[in-house]
Amino acid sequence: MPFDRSIKIAPSILSADFANFGAECRAIEAQGADWVHVDVMDGHFVPNITFGPATCAAIRPHIKGVMDVHLMIAPVDPYIEAFAKAGADIITAHVEAGPHIHRTMQAIRGAGAKAGVALNPATPAAAVEYLLDMVDLVCVMTVNPGFGGQKFIHSQVDKVRQLRAMIGDRPIHIEIDGGVDPTTAPLVAAAGADVLVAGSAVFRGGSVSDPAPYGANIRAIRDAAKV
Ligand code: DX5
Ligand code: ZN
Repeated sequence: MPFDRSIKIAPSILSADFANFGAECRAIEAQGADWVHVDVMDGHFVPNITFGPATCAAIRPHIKGVMDVHLMIAPVDPYIEAFAKAGADIITAHVEAGPHIHRTMQAIRGAGAKAGVALNPATPAAAVEYLLDMVDLVCVMTVNPGFGGQKFIHSQVDKVRQLRAMIGDRPIHIEIDGGVDPTTAPLVAAAGADVLVAGSAVFRGGSVSDPAPYGANIRAIRDAAKV
């Protein structure tokens, strides 16, 4: 996975047809997705349940590019190996998910994946200051995690700006997750983000049998992010 700061659109399959994940992943990649974002929820760290490592392993062969796995679970550490074995290229865990996020980042890299750390909206940028030399991605949640289709929280744009300054020349992606669409994408791109996760704004209007709207939606976000 070579590093670059160009804008990458990462559709979240949380908004896909859950009975058709394989076909949905193939469709979004064919329509221009850069990464595939996979939201894992446990009904404990967040008030919703999605799926686990077995589903990730099942969809892996349908993804040619990067499988970006966002763990909204607590605890995290007992499951890292399973998600790495399932083929995750990036595994992201939340700062708020436990007392030992530093160890969690070590464990993710130790399992052979890139390490991501996510921040809930109320968590300040400084929470990752001492992790910056051991992570590959910082995910700024621009909604409270748990559900797709929520409203973008504007106060987070300033956090992105702070993180961009803190990161400096380090090869660390800044990912935005929640409420990204053509109106909010330029705000976070200008603040220094390079990976834009989008669920509802990518999948709306399309389906596996009519995937062209996915492409139009992805292009609209990418064009809006050209700042
Ligand atoms: C929220 C998830 C997001 C979500 C984004 O907990 O982590 O990835 O699917 O969905 P939209 O783009 O609809 O806000
Ligand atoms: Zn996510």
